Amino acid sequence: MRKYLIILFAAAAVLSCQDTTQRPAAVSFDDVVASRRSIRDYDASKTTISEADVRAIIAAAQEAPSWANSQPSRYYVALSREKADAVREVIGEWNKKNTEGAPVFIVSTFVRGKSGFGRDGEPANEVGDGWGAYDNGLSDAHLILKARAMGFDTLIMGGRDADALRSIFDIPEEEAIMAVISLGYRASNPQRPARKPQEEILKFF
Ligand SMILES: Cc1cc2nc3c(=O)[nH]c(=O)nc-3n(C[C@H](O)[C@H](O)[C@H](O)COP(=O)(O)O)c2cc1C
Repeated sequence: MRKYLIILFAAAAVLSCQDTTQRPAAVSFDDVVASRRSIRDYDASKTTISEADVRAIIAAAQEAPSWANSQPSRYYVALSREKADAVREVIGEWNKKNTEGAPVFIVSTFVRGKSGFGRDGEPANEVGDGWGAYDNGLSDAHLILKARAMGFDTLIMGGRDADALRSIFDIPEEEAIMAVISLGYRASNPQRPARKPQEEILKFF
């Protein structure tokens, strides 16, 4: 009986350690930040990203702060091969080549005239719709870090044809189209691009 129980526990332990989703586990926040990289080489054999996965990622993006909680960010997700291919046609040759094995593409936009604007529709200060772009960047930062925490990889792409994306996803004119974000699994580990020394970017008073 005891021998039987030991075998049972050992089997349960092995099963609980198996990663059925092909994802490498990222544990702490620091691990997530350190292991996130802009990935330009995707493993085309790993394509299991579900709508539920994307919803979890977008839920994290929605937790980002925004001007007066105006939540101006919008997301358009190409989950099907057909839509993903259509997106890859309008992100330039360099980005197209680098995202070949990525199964999912997310287009991030923000509604103009909300974040940074008063009820009267007037800009609250000189930044204007820059605050919408700010909020969109914040939610995209949540998005890419959550994706990494779930074991996925991303590439934010500002090189894209906004008019073409507008027609592919029928994006209303009131939304400014910002980045395309590829979502997939890295095939190799890129080097960490160097960061500026803090002396160059930071001042204490
Ligand atoms: C707004 C924005 C636009 C970007 N556009 C592109 C792009 O079109 N193509 C690309 O390969 N990388 C793009 N990147 C990725 C940057 O090159 C990358 O974040 C930077 O080199 C630092 O590398 P890391 O993300 O691995 O830390 C973009 C990043 C941001 C935030």
